[in-house]
Amino acid sequence: MTLTGPGVEIYPHIFAQGELRSVKMANRCIVSPMTRTSATEDGLATEQMAEYYARFARGGWGMVITEAAYIDLKYSQGYTFQPGIATNEQAESWRKVIDAVHAEGAPIFMQIFHGGAINQGNNWVEGSISASAVTPRGEQIPRYRGAGTGFQTPREITRDEMAQVVEDFGHAARRAVEIGFDGVEVHGANGYLLDQFLTVHTNLREDEYGGPIEKRVKFHCEVMQSVRDAAPNVPVGVRISQTKVNDLTYVWPDGDDDAKVVFPAIAATGIDFFDCSAHLGLDHVFGTDRSLSGLARRHTGLPVFANGKLHDPELADRAIAEEEGDFVAIAKGALADPEWPQKIAAGLEPVPFNPAMVMPFATLDCNEAFWKENPSGVPDEPVVARDGVES
Ligand SMILES: Cc1cc2nc3c(=O)[nH]c(=O)nc-3n(C[C@H](O)[C@H](O)[C@H](O)COP(=O)(O)O)c2cc1C
Repeated sequence: MTLTGPGVEIYPHIFAQGELRSVKMANRCIVSPMTRTSATEDGLATEQMAEYYARFARGGWGMVITEAAYIDLKYSQGYTFQPGIATNEQAESWRKVIDAVHAEGAPIFMQIFHGGAINQGNNWVEGSISASAVTPRGEQIPRYRGAGTGFQTPREITRDEMAQVVEDFGHAARRAVEIGFDGVEVHGANGYLLDQFLTVHTNLREDEYGGPIEKRVKFHCEVMQSVRDAAPNVPVGVRISQTKVNDLTYVWPDGDDDAKVVFPAIAATGIDFFDCSAHLGLDHVFGTDRSLSGLARRHTGLPVFANGKLHDPELADRAIAEEEGDFVAIAKGALADPEWPQKIAAGLEPVPFNPAMVMPFATLDCNEAFWKENPSGVPDEPVVARDGVES
C-alpha cells in the first residue's frame, strides 16, 4: 500500500520503498515479531490470528513478521498456545493468515523458533534441553502464560539432537515457504536455544560448540545453512540480540570483537538479512559509533532491520538515515496502533503503547477493555525493565 500525506515528506527514509531479494515492500516499516500465545493448544493458527495480522497490513506496514513458531514436536515449543510449523497440519493452518495479509497488499515472513531452556509450556514433551545444563536466570513470564516462578533446569542437548534440530529448522522453513510465506526469519536471539549457545554462562561446552566465540556461533551457522538450503529462493535472515527475555542486562563479553566474528560467520551461510533486537535500537554499543544493527551492517554489508523503541518516527527515520539499519522493526508501537504507518504518513498521532495491552495475556483486542479504562496506563519504562516486555 503506497502511503501519502505530509509525514511521507517529513520522514522520507521510512517511507521509501524497500526490497529484499524479489520481495517488494511499499515502505521500510516492519511489524516486529510478537508472541501472542493465541493459537490452539496443539499449535494451529486461528481465524482470529488471521484477522489480527491482517490489521497490520491494512494499517500500511511494509512487511509483517509473525510471532515465533516452533519447529518440531519435541523441545522447541516454549509457551502454551504458541503456534507451530512443525507439521503439515500446523503449516496448513497458517494459510488463512498469509492470505489475509496478502489480501491487504503486504508481504509476511515467518519467524521460526526453538526455545531451548526457556520452556514454560510444551504440549509435546516433558523437560527441556539447552547448550548446557544451566538453569535459566529469571522467572517464567506471566504475559506468555508463565507461572512467574523459576525455569526448570534443562539437560545438555546431545550431538544427535543438535543435528536433528538443524534439520528440523530446515524442514520448518521449507514448510513455511511451501505454504506461501514470503520469507523466513530464524529466532537466534533473546535467550532462546540458539542464543543459549552464543551466551557464555549458558554454554559451558567443551566440544567444538563451546569456548571462544568462533565455536559458540557454530550452531547458529549450521541452522542458517540448513534454512538457506531449504529456502533458496526467498529472503532468509536471523534475529540477533545481546539481551534476553529472561535477562535484560547481558552484554557480549568481547564487544565489537564478538560482533566481528558473529555477523560475518553467519553471513557466510548466504543469508539475506539480519534483524537486530535491542532495548534502544539507536544506542551505540561497545564504545563504538554504531548500534548493534549498525555493526551488523558494517561487518557484513547485508540489509539490516533496526529495532528497539523506534516507534517515534523521528528516531525511526534517523535509524535509516544514519545507516543503523535499512528497515525499522517496531513491536510495541505496532501493537498499540496497527495503523501506525498510515497515521504517521497522514500527520496524525498514533495510539500510545500501554503495558496493559500485552498483560496479563495476549488477547487479540490487546486487552482493549482494560486499557481504554486506564488511558494513562502504567508508565512504560519501569514495566519494561521489570517484565522485560522486550523479547
Ligand atoms: C508482546 C511481545 C511479544 C514479543 N515476542 C517476540 C517474538 O516472538 N520474537 C521476537 O523475536 N521478539 C519478540 N518480541 C520483541 C519485539 O519483537 C521487539 O524486539 C521488542 O519489543 C523491542 O521493540 P519495540 O521497542 O518496538 O517494542 C516481543 C515483544 C513483545 C512486546
